[in-house]
Amino acid sequence: METVVVIVGAGPAGLATSVCLNQHLVPNVILEKEDIYASLWKKRAYDRLKLHLAKEFCELPFMPHGRDVPTFMPKDLFVNYLDAYVARFDIKPRYNRTVKLSTFDESNNKWRVEAENTVTGETEVYWSEFLVVATGENGDGNIPMVNGIDTFPGEILHSSGYKSGRDFNGKNVLVVGGGNSGMEISFDLCNFGANTTVLIRTPRHVVTKEVIHLGMSFLKYVPVTIVDTMVTTISNLAYGDLSKYGLFRPKQGPFATKLFTGKAPVIDVGTVQKIRDGEIKVINGGIGSIKGKTLTFENGHEQDFDAIVFATGYKSSVCNWLQDYEYVMKKDGFPKAPMPKHWKGEKNLYCTGFSRRGIAGAAEDAVSVADDISSVLATIKN
Ligand SMILES: Cc1cc2nc3c(=O)[nH]c(=O)nc-3n(C[C@H](O)[C@H](O)[C@H](O)COP(=O)(O)OP(=O)(O)OC[C@H]3O[C@@H](n4cnc5c(N)ncnc54)[C@H](O)[C@@H]3O)c2cc1C
Ligand SMILES: *[C@@H]1O[C@H](CO)[C@@H](O)[C@H](O)[C@H]1NC(C)=O
Ligand SMILES: *[C@@H]1O[C@H](CO)[C@@H](O)[C@H](O)[C@H]1NC(C)=O
Repeated sequence: METVVVIVGAGPAGLATSVCLNQHLVPNVILEKEDIYASLWKKRAYDRLKLHLAKEFCELPFMPHGRDVPTFMPKDLFVNYLDAYVARFDIKPRYNRTVKLSTFDESNNKWRVEAENTVTGETEVYWSEFLVVATGENGDGNIPMVNGIDTFPGEILHSSGYKSGRDFNGKNVLVVGGGNSGMEISFDLCNFGANTTVLIRTPRHVVTKEVIHLGMSFLKYVPVTIVDTMVTTISNLAYGDLSKYGLFRPKQGPFATKLFTGKAPVIDVGTVQKIRDGEIKVINGGIGSIKGKTLTFENGHEQDFDAIVFATGYKSSVCNWLQDYEYVMKKDGFPKAPMPKHWKGEKNLYCTGFSRRGIAGAAEDAVSVADDISSVLATIKN
């Protein structure tokens, strides 16, 4: 099959890109490996998830959230919004298509995209002038190599497969990772009566969602360092010194840390209080080794667990299916060009949703990419 633009991935970034291209009347096809759009939100997110960012930072092009929508939307409301978006703009991704290989064909200057139809098992080949990568920053769950992990008899799962603490009542559960997912999953486990320990390796800012919202609003007018000082001061007042509980603040401010390392501050959902109360235990460092049920930590501490949840983040999966990734990405599957033109590669290759700025970033990328493709097409025609 031949088209003008192939978009790989029907998450918020891919959907928004298609909508923006349609506005420019540029034909496009979305290939999605799952049987549904926004699979991260519909299949791989835990039940109690609420959007961490205020609603105005979580909307797609041409469709602002309604006035009656709460500032911090629960997952279900956001999924409803995506449903309405797909219906309103009549987006029809081709589902059950896992893109396995994409290469640039120099002989005809076109992209060749090979997708496996997971229903029929057949390989389909798509040809296009433009290729947009929209498979997301959260392509594959990252589980670190741990010595002896194969001897662990209990359940091991990645945060993307975690739904709720319901099945963990009374169990000893270790959550690896003190980022947003790890802290929120610990809270959820504890609420469901699991004996919960969280393993935290690196310092993280802990903040309330309100102060981050305030900070994000200020960022439009005030330099990052000043906003960071403000946010850190307020957070210190709100939480006090948490180092005695094993929670350390980085020297760099929360927004600067996010900007330079991509590591987001932890938006506290109530986990800190449970840590203070001793309901959730913190261990600093990493896992040294595992032998059966017994984990030995880097600090020498030993403890038995029934289950381990790895909230150890994600890897971009782009390099697994995009052979000619180097026209737009580095080896780690993130853009090689700096912001704000990170979305544009060579050979008509683009990416949306890789600016580490969530839904707002994906929405901006979609607008930029569609504008650019449309202007490239206009120069070809003239
Ligand atoms: C737990 C969690 C909470 C989050 N909370 C927020 C928040 O509050 N606010 C915010 O702005 N952001 C949040 N994010 C970030 C969020 O992931 C993004 O904002 C958004 O989902 C990114 O959209 P995307 O389209 O780029 O990627 P995704 O939503 O990951 O979509 C990528 C799509 O590509 C498909 N795909 C992948 N590989 C292939 C292939 N080879 N072939 C075909 N299809 C493929 C996938 O199935 C998926 O449907 C959160 C992320 C996580 C993990
Ligand atoms: C995709 O596959 C699922 C089964 O895995 C099936 O239920 C669904 O109908 C398929 N969708 C399309 C559009 O082929
Ligand atoms: C809960 O975990 C702690 C260690 O963090 C352990 O000492 C205690 O025995 C566990 N409680 C139960 C009921 O297993």
